[in-house]
Amino acid sequence: MLTSQVSIAKLTTLPTSYYALLATVALLALLFARRTQQPTPPGPRGLPIIGNVAELSGGFEWIRFGTTLRKQFGDVLGFKVLNNRILVLNTAKAAKEFMDKRASKYSSRPVLTVIGELMGLDQAMPLIPYGAEWRACRKLEHVALNQSAVKQYRPVIEHHAAQLALDILQEPDKFLTHTRLCTTRIILAVTYGLSARVTATEYISLAEEVMRIVTIYLRPFAHLCDVMPVLKHLPSWIPFRREAEYGRRLFESFVSTPYERTKQAFAKGDAEPSLIRDILASMPQDSLTPEVEHRVKWTAGSMFAAGGESTFGTIGVFMMAMALHPDKQARAQEEVDSAVGTDRLPTMDDKARLPYVYAVVQEAMRWHPMLPLSLPRRAEVDDEYDGYYIAKDTTVCANLWAMGMEPNAKYPPEQFIPERFLDAEHPTPNPNTWAFGFGRRICPGKALAEESLFVLMSTLLAMFKICAPPEGIKPEFESRVVSLPKPFKCIFRLRSPEKADMLRAVVATQ
Ligand code: HEM
Repeated sequence: MLTSQVSIAKLTTLPTSYYALLATVALLALLFARRTQQPTPPGPRGLPIIGNVAELSGGFEWIRFGTTLRKQFGDVLGFKVLNNRILVLNTAKAAKEFMDKRASKYSSRPVLTVIGELMGLDQAMPLIPYGAEWRACRKLEHVALNQSAVKQYRPVIEHHAAQLALDILQEPDKFLTHTRLCTTRIILAVTYGLSARVTATEYISLAEEVMRIVTIYLRPFAHLCDVMPVLKHLPSWIPFRREAEYGRRLFESFVSTPYERTKQAFAKGDAEPSLIRDILASMPQDSLTPEVEHRVKWTAGSMFAAGGESTFGTIGVFMMAMALHPDKQARAQEEVDSAVGTDRLPTMDDKARLPYVYAVVQEAMRWHPMLPLSLPRRAEVDDEYDGYYIAKDTTVCANLWAMGMEPNAKYPPEQFIPERFLDAEHPTPNPNTWAFGFGRRICPGKALAEESLFVLMSTLLAMFKICAPPEGIKPEFESRVVSLPKPFKCIFRLRSPEKADMLRAVVATQ
């Protein structure tokens, strides 16, 4: 059990003496900076030495990158902080050019000193550098997450969708808490075969603490030590080193606890279907070396950390949008009622009969993408783009938010209008072509996420009228790597008393 609960907030502020050290290192960095005659991608002129700190801080950078700065400097923006270079790609075309066409150069991740090196999260798949180990992890993950493997988990998703509706029926004010539990449980069931009872009691709070740390540190230059890695050599009693140690033990416990449980269940022959069970079953006992076991454990842990919050947040965006747009909600509900009827809940098999509901799913992903700046990449070699020099080790960010906000002659991008996806004359690209990232590191949980989003949203539409409270809803989001909606209120009205009986019957028989 983890005992140290050092406050994260304290970490990001360092005593004045460290700033003297920062200035010294900055000067050295300047002296040894690589020089090139070629121009670098256009961007705002930064301050001497520290560069573009102002443009890269203050929150919601993706909006500045995709609006004012894009207008001023173009689709591809260049920034500099000390000797670190950052490239922002504001269009899907540019992201594809770098991450698809030049995949061999742009499929690695930046080294994140605090969360990666010091806390040990560089053992998790989303941070592992591009190479043999990453490929081995990706292969393992593919076992559970490829399009056809995900089909075997449809009953799990449908079960958790019905359970979510029942939980909201019983405790409507806790709709966000129940939604987070639901999306977490889906991933834990797929990864470890853990039942709702187990995940509710023992694992969820550990998982939430992990996500609290991950969302703070998993972005480029989240901490001074990420900008100046030399600070990692400071003594271990310095507050941020103590916090890093806390993070290390937290992550280790997070990946080991459910893995050991499933391994024991597998040995006894009563493990539920899951990624871990499939992997253990596919391996001769003697091939489970400590090295392989370490990889399996961390790959499974990565699935939760990378997938739970983004699915939860997208459902949150959907609920918010439905409450704000009763007319769109009514149209989606009419479609569900006529295509599915009122005596059962929708499933994936209904998708082709529910084009408007699917347009609502797409619009929720577009209107506010959960990872507005995706996960950063790193240039592995010096490169050139459009006559500009891209230095090795440049951090490259795809601005997914800007991709969702591409101008459209008929449908203003800032408005929630699912109809845009049904209009062939003014086409809007399906967010599944950009909201899950690009190239070799595209989100491996895409198929699971898409199925979960569709089934959860259509189940909620079938069951409830989602209304704004009398004081209204102001759409507000977190400025973090996973940009969740800020907590908001909604009223869930059961659409008919018979639906409650149907729901209880469905949950009882699952
Ligand atoms: C709405 C839901 C989701 C969204 C919007 C989303 C989005 C993303 C994005 C933008 C990336 C970065 C890709 C890149 O670098 O180009 C990513 C990576 C990743 N996602 Fe997802 N994701 C979602 C759900 C999931 C789920 C359900 C899982 C697993 C169960 C998952 C697992 C991962 C992993 C492991 C990575 C890192 C891949 C790598 O570095 O090779 N995601 N996701």
